[in-house]
Amino acid sequence: MATRKVVKVGDQNLRKKSKEVKNFDEDLWQLLDDMKETMYANDGMGLAAPQVGVLRRIVVVDVNNMFVELINPQIVYQEGKDIEKEGCLSVGSFKGRVERPYKITVKAVDRYGYPFSLTGEKWLARCICHELDHLDGILFIDKTLDKKEYLEKGGRI
Ligand code: NI
Repeated sequence: MATRKVVKVGDQNLRKKSKEVKNFDEDLWQLLDDMKETMYANDGMGLAAPQVGVLRRIVVVDVNNMFVELINPQIVYQEGKDIEKEGCLSVGSFKGRVERPYKITVKAVDRYGYPFSLTGEKWLARCICHELDHLDGILFIDKTLDKKEYLEKGGRI
């Protein structure tokens, strides 16, 4: 395993749409292992592949000591609303409030290509929604209720 460089806001790759994973091979497993190590090394709750410069639909999350790899994930159910402050390893120190669903169910496949689904509430739901946004080039600073504050502090979009 190795840590990879986390790209920061301003890098155009963060704004691109990631492609589906089709090959469940050693390159994918290496990437997943590196993403896990990179997330922990940066004290993150989640990391999406475009944040390490790979435009593939892959995320890792760790909420409440539960580590999960999601490949080709899709949110298939959501309910409720929840507002909390969130941050992002690609943005820096700014934290801003974002409205997210309170509860979600996500369908995905694992590193071997086997399908599964996962239901999460509160922070797990939030973290998954945040990471899935990365796969479509969306950052929390696009959605934050505190965008004015972010821009006033000189934040980039
Ligand atoms: Ni992020």
